[in-house]
Amino acid sequence: MSRSAFCSSGSNLVPKTTEALNPLNRPKKHHYLNGRQRTNLYQKNHRASKVLAYYGLRSPPYKLDALEPYMSQRTLEMHWGEHHGGYVDALNKQLAKNDLLYGCTLEELIKVTYNNGNPLPEFNNAAQVWNHDFFWESMQPGGGSSPILGLLQQIEKDFGSFTNFREKFIDAALKLFGSGWVWLVLKREEKHLAIVKTSNAVNPLVWNDIPILNLDMWEHAYYLDYKNDKAKYANVFMNHLVSWNAAMARMARAQAFVNLGEPKIPVA
Ligand SMILES: [Fe+2]
Repeated sequence: MSRSAFCSSGSNLVPKTTEALNPLNRPKKHHYLNGRQRTNLYQKNHRASKVLAYYGLRSPPYKLDALEPYMSQRTLEMHWGEHHGGYVDALNKQLAKNDLLYGCTLEELIKVTYNNGNPLPEFNNAAQVWNHDFFWESMQPGGGSSPILGLLQQIEKDFGSFTNFREKFIDAALKLFGSGWVWLVLKREEKHLAIVKTSNAVNPLVWNDIPILNLDMWEHAYYLDYKNDKAKYANVFMNHLVSWNAAMARMARAQAFVNLGEPKIPVA
């Protein structure tokens, strides 16, 4: 089978068999996968198995009750297990019918299926899988507080102060119409941080921005714990859940691609 005309990578992908399609058999942790890339090799050794699944449901980096009392276990079970899991299952079913997308990493799949603003059917599920993986890792038990070091300095530079950033982020969450996401992104071209709202599944990768943080503003994210009180949910996220550790690590990686100032070259 030839590789996709769209995607060139995919080396981090591993095959899954029909066993993996059963939710009860889902592994606790695994990487994104694309069965077709290694199907031939796999089938040489496992003639009886047919590889059908492509991407896996990745677990949050903490137990499902670890964000209590700010985000309940019941919400995590429903939001991660059912909604996020549902996007993974739906995406895998779509990909089983589309050879052209063979070999894509999830990030490539999102960019390709966004199709310059004319999304292909696979886009919503692919983006929602990525958005949720990123969201779980944007929170941590004992989160909140504020960032330090370079990320704090950049926030102060681009928003005036951390307090101002915080207010703008929460304001964006409350002004988002319908379902969608609020993001802190590093804009590659403009070389500054920005708060971005996106509708439905859209994420900033499609504009080549680098996501640093996101907040799920779909009703399924907050309704069980906060009913329609979006303000309380957004404030609790910022005060008790947000992982500035994750955001700072992402910012450090992002700076490998975006030069935010004159380099400080050590003097010998
Ligand atoms: Fe969600």
